[in-house]
Amino acid sequence: MIRPTSVIAIDGPAASGKSSTAQLVAEKLGFLHIDSGSLYRAATAAMLRAEKDASKWTEAAVLNAARPVELRAARTSFYPLLDGRAIEEEIRGPDVTRNVSRVAQMPRVRTWVNDKVRDAARSSDVVVDGRDMGTVVFPDADLKIFLVADSRERAARRLRQRGTPTSEQMLDDETIRINERDARDARQTVPAADAVVIDTTGLTQQDQVEQIVSLSKTRSG
Ligand code: DC
Repeated sequence: MIRPTSVIAIDGPAASGKSSTAQLVAEKLGFLHIDSGSLYRAATAAMLRAEKDASKWTEAAVLNAARPVELRAARTSFYPLLDGRAIEEEIRGPDVTRNVSRVAQMPRVRTWVNDKVRDAARSSDVVVDGRDMGTVVFPDADLKIFLVADSRERAARRLRQRGTPTSEQMLDDETIRINERDARDARQTVPAADAVVIDTTGLTQQDQVEQIVSLSKTRSG
């Protein structure tokens, strides 16, 4: 019998550490990581290349612009390509970050992302991260995790990641930006009824990874 692939779904709000945690969990378990947000970002980057004025964007135009986006498997993760090229830097830039929530509200774009993610999960064991992986995309996931953290702590992590010196004012500003993004993404950022909620506010990344790996071993054993 063909063994169905395993899915670990990790959801949570912006800067809750989902993607980096999911990547490390995937590496520890020998699974592949899929960052579903990277596809919303890739569609946004593709649309920005076609039209800078986001107020003119329609769902049909975004879907058309996103046609050359594909999800490619590497050694430990899937990553998006646009016209056959890696676009990691472009999708993490401020223009994409400012406009991606708008694209993520479009129902047919959500279907496009969900189909791509489910396709990728057909051939490998995966750790997927996003907002609705445990609720909409993989309601039967083997393990569902929902990461939460205080918004000021998430802002501090974001600033630390950038590696530049920070002030209290910068921390205040980043906290406001994170709260605004939470509000924009609130509709799809809801834990599944059977998700394990982990508050990472006082946890190190290693603690989070170990908790999830040990939960996954308990489930599969
Ligand atoms: O996690 P992120 O910041 O890379 O996500 C980018 C955007 O995509 C953000 O607005 C939330 C949205 N998103 C979503 O709506 N559903 C997902 N499964 C993943 C991301």
